Amino acid sequence: MGQPTRDAAVPLGQARRVVIFTGAGMSAESGVPTFRDALTGLWRRFDAQALATPEAFRDDPALVWGWYEWRRGAVQRARPNAGHRAVAAIEARVPGSVLITQNVDDLHERAGSAAPVHLHGSLFAPRCSACALPAPVPDGVADGRRVPPPRCGRCSGPVRPGVVWFGEPLPREAIDAAVEAASSCDLLLTVGTSGLVYPAAEIPQVAARAGATVIQVNPDETPLDRVSDVNLRGPATQVLPALVDAVWGNGQRT
Ligand code: OAD
Repeated sequence: MGQPTRDAAVPLGQARRVVIFTGAGMSAESGVPTFRDALTGLWRRFDAQALATPEAFRDDPALVWGWYEWRRGAVQRARPNAGHRAVAAIEARVPGSVLITQNVDDLHERAGSAAPVHLHGSLFAPRCSACALPAPVPDGVADGRRVPPPRCGRCSGPVRPGVVWFGEPLPREAIDAAVEAASSCDLLLTVGTSGLVYPAAEIPQVAARAGATVIQVNPDETPLDRVSDVNLRGPATQVLPALVDAVWGNGQRT
């Protein structure tokens, strides 16, 4: 076991209240493109920031709904990876842990995490764009670029993806829960986020200011390096299982 893993395993083994904060890098090895890469393949001609906005949906609901359905289809074809499973293992061993994710996929849930806080919403929580009534997730995924969105069962308004778009506020309940957890944890483990998008990127900094130990897992350097006590440079599917093994290797808490 390398020194950095040891430096992370000791505080993690002693922590009573752990926050795990994840970004798109968590799902990268499951084949789900990180946010910036989301334009590979069918959508490489489109600027995601021009698709992920309320104005884009108003101007061309079929194009925007089609893009999110394409992303939902990619997630459904993907499988949780060893990093997702390691996160669920930490939650199982630290009763006082809270998982906060910026991801809109359901891979944490499918790996056994019971109730991630979805700061940016979810591909699996569509709602009416007019009256906000939750709408059912469509059966199967329509193929093609323009897919007219379903209509709301109550007011017939166009159904929108349940994700946060650029220029929209984060769900109040989610951000309050995230700030509360980060303000009162002993340790925050940030995995696979570039730490560039606010207000989500504030969460690890809230924990650091509150005196928590911050551990970062990322193959690359990020702005969160400066608030991290330990930087584990590597992919989530290798670093997280090794960290769990270092702390609870024989199934017992050290
Ligand atoms: P980004 O695409 O900005 O950053 C992905 C991070 O994951 C980068 O720092 C990579 O170095 C890292 N990474 C890549 N592969 C990895 C691996 N195998 N293991 C660990 N880390 C890896 O994604 P986010 O930081 O999540 O918002 O972006 C934050 C938000 O920006 C997204 O939630 C999205 C976007 O606006 C919405 O979609 C609402």
